Amino acid sequence: MAHIVSTRPLIDGGLSGVRDEHTLTVCDPPDGSTRSVDELIALADGADVLLSVLADPITEALFEARPGLQMVSQYAVGVDNIDLEAAEAHDVAVTHTPGVLTDATADQAWALLLAAARHVPAADRYVRDGRFERWETTHLMGMELARKTIGIVGMGRIGTAVARRALGFGMEVIYHNRTRANPTVERQVSARHVGLGELLTTSDVVSLHCPHNDESHHLLDAAAFSKMKASALLVNTARGPVVDEAALVDALKSGEIAGAGLDVFEDEPEVHPGLMEQDRVVLAPHLGSATTDTRMRMAQMCVASITALLDGAESVPHRLV
Ligand code: DGY
Repeated sequence: MAHIVSTRPLIDGGLSGVRDEHTLTVCDPPDGSTRSVDELIALADGADVLLSVLADPITEALFEARPGLQMVSQYAVGVDNIDLEAAEAHDVAVTHTPGVLTDATADQAWALLLAAARHVPAADRYVRDGRFERWETTHLMGMELARKTIGIVGMGRIGTAVARRALGFGMEVIYHNRTRANPTVERQVSARHVGLGELLTTSDVVSLHCPHNDESHHLLDAAAFSKMKASALLVNTARGPVVDEAALVDALKSGEIAGAGLDVFEDEPEVHPGLMEQDRVVLAPHLGSATTDTRMRMAQMCVASITALLDGAESVPHRLV
């Protein structure tokens, strides 16, 4: 019998596929707070499998303290919080949930883009504050998206899904990737591959969909913002540290860019105070995958990976290490 520990509750019914022969402990941090390494080590006492979320720091110290741990099953596609090298060195399998959150995250990018383009939060506040007294000729005017250019940084699964939606809005799509996307994908979403410089100078909307790594850290910095159109919007549903947040605040304050829709932050759950003050920024608490369908599929994928590993299957689905 194996013991599975989930570091926090998942969607109702998400873990119902866990076999009866295994024991499952679902932890519930009293205030939903982020766990420290020491707290995770305590939770993992006696665990064969740890079901983790992005906010859990899964470090070498955990693997050292819990040599019985066989697997970390991450309830996310991103694994920025897991020391993969240390997992490999300690012979701990790591799995994640790729593919199933593509549409939900692409929808969230579009929700933020539309909200920023048409001042949805400000409009909502205006009506609730009882300030809607008459139709105005020039009030809260936004950016029309048809015939504008969207620049996608990172044409992977999510970037492609965002591009597909952009076609429906009548936008021109350009993209930047380290390696050029396959020509069929380019054709399907009518996207043109360009250098990052051209993408920044010509896009009306820049939407980020690349992973965070050494190369993409602060990819959007002060120099990048200075290249963007003053009317441009930035959307980030990828990872916070791809953007230099302090530089973004300066760019918004100085009018170097017009606005932003942000689902992710450099130091989550902290948000740069300068962003909080900006009316032209729409903020969300990392909700990319937060739909019932997607969170259920993610949970089911975790259970499938866990079951395969515990059954000793030759291949464990969605295994990274
Ligand atoms: C992921 O799965 O990496 C997402 O960012 C979580 O919403």
